[in-house]
Amino acid sequence: MPKFYITTPIYYVNDKPHIGHAYTTIAADVIARWHRLRGDDVFFLTGTDEHGEKIMKAATAAGKSPQEFVDGLAVVYKDAWKKLNISYDYFVRTSDPNHERLVKLFVDKLYKSGDLYKGIYEGWYCVSDETFFTQLQLRDGKCPECGKEVKLIKEEDYFFKLSKYQQRLLDFYKENPDFLSPKFRADEIKNRVKAGLKDLSITRSAVKWGVEFPPDKSYTIYVWVDALLNYVTALDWPDGKRFGEFWPADVHVMAKEINWFHSVIWPALLFCAGMEPPKKIFAHGWWTVDGKKMSKSVGNVVDPIDMSRKYSTDAFRYFLLREMPFGDDGDFSEKALVTRLNTELASDLGNLFNRVFTLAEKFDGKIEGRVELEMQLDIEGITKSMDNIELFNALAKIFEYVAAANKYVNDTRPWALKDEQLGNALYNLLEACRVLSIVLYPFMPETSEKVAKQLGTKVGTLEECKFRKFSAKVSKGELLFKKVDAG
Ligand code: MSP
Repeated sequence: MPKFYITTPIYYVNDKPHIGHAYTTIAADVIARWHRLRGDDVFFLTGTDEHGEKIMKAATAAGKSPQEFVDGLAVVYKDAWKKLNISYDYFVRTSDPNHERLVKLFVDKLYKSGDLYKGIYEGWYCVSDETFFTQLQLRDGKCPECGKEVKLIKEEDYFFKLSKYQQRLLDFYKENPDFLSPKFRADEIKNRVKAGLKDLSITRSAVKWGVEFPPDKSYTIYVWVDALLNYVTALDWPDGKRFGEFWPADVHVMAKEINWFHSVIWPALLFCAGMEPPKKIFAHGWWTVDGKKMSKSVGNVVDPIDMSRKYSTDAFRYFLLREMPFGDDGDFSEKALVTRLNTELASDLGNLFNRVFTLAEKFDGKIEGRVELEMQLDIEGITKSMDNIELFNALAKIFEYVAAANKYVNDTRPWALKDEQLGNALYNLLEACRVLSIVLYPFMPETSEKVAKQLGTKVGTLEECKFRKFSAKVSKGELLFKKVDAG
């Protein structure tokens, strides 16, 4: 069985998840479910990033100890993923003793390699992004990523010789043209690496909420090194069975602002430890809300659980992946979600199932077709799109099929047909519905399961996407998507 290992970033637990976090996690879930449909042995990892200054500050503000604080939020994340139907296989937490133990082991390995040295760090630090910046990188004296205040740090730290890996990284990118994805983000990374790499400070002396740095216990390990290692500690590196089976990862999914950490720092750390880098880094775009970056102070933070409760988890999942190509930036608006729910889901998809099931339920003869639908599902095209992580294109192809099936209903007018002709039309339509329930499954698992149940079957595998003899008893259930008032 082919192995497939996919990860999301581990999210900072300074607050509950918003639609940005939900987006990455849902997209990774869609990819994971797709690979399970293909018959792959999938390991889907998500989790929480719980150490560092940012979390410590949030815990203090909440009047809690850091551990108590992160324990509470890890549960909030797990609950959210349950409500959004996220089929992760393991939830990693950086405050987990096993993770901490393995981080120490890894960093000790780095130390023994001779690529760590003590030096003076002088520069700017953004606590919100847990990132170091040079004076030149700042924008109007503020963090170039999030626009928040940065603070000047001057301290003696341990550094990782990132600069040593410049050529090795460039060679690696060249030999592995699919590593940096999507392609349009690759040049930015390559150009920055070509321009030269500065060594990376990987310890903090003032930050106590973190993993102890084994060679010098007066320091903790920089939160980003701690965090990146989750991708291997969750597999029980170095000796775990899972590590042997699933490393290197097939794809790390995240948004563009942390592409650098994944595409440059992470492979360099792995090179230093004598390990293989992941196969692919996929950095998608950003959601804004009503044209603005989501922030508490602007008051435009959208809660994914509210959206799922209001419009259904499947409608929310569908909207996120249909509204913008995976990779690009886009704007979230509830109005646009309602429009897609009312038209594409209720009128097009829901109505197709409803019409077909209503007819089939009334038909008491044997449903046995011989004439196959002229329009065929483009399963090859969908497979290609899904394998290339073009989720938007795959959905577009699936919905072309929905449109063709609806057209078939309008053209054949099965309600006016009788006997064999009606049997043929119904056979075709029921098979179209069954096949749709398979390809829609990664995106809208609940809907797929309901459709399969109404067809008297279970959601099939990808191999079962071909028309076959139909022998089920249809029992129509409740409407799959109800229109909502556009307001
Ligand atoms: N803890 C680090 C990641 C460590 S991974 C080894 C971190 N956490 S985070 O909570 O800030 O999550 C950032 C990620 O959340 C983004 O890379 C992206 O996956 C998701 N998103 C957060 N806001 C987003 C948008 N507005 N739009 C799209 N995705 C967003 O960085």
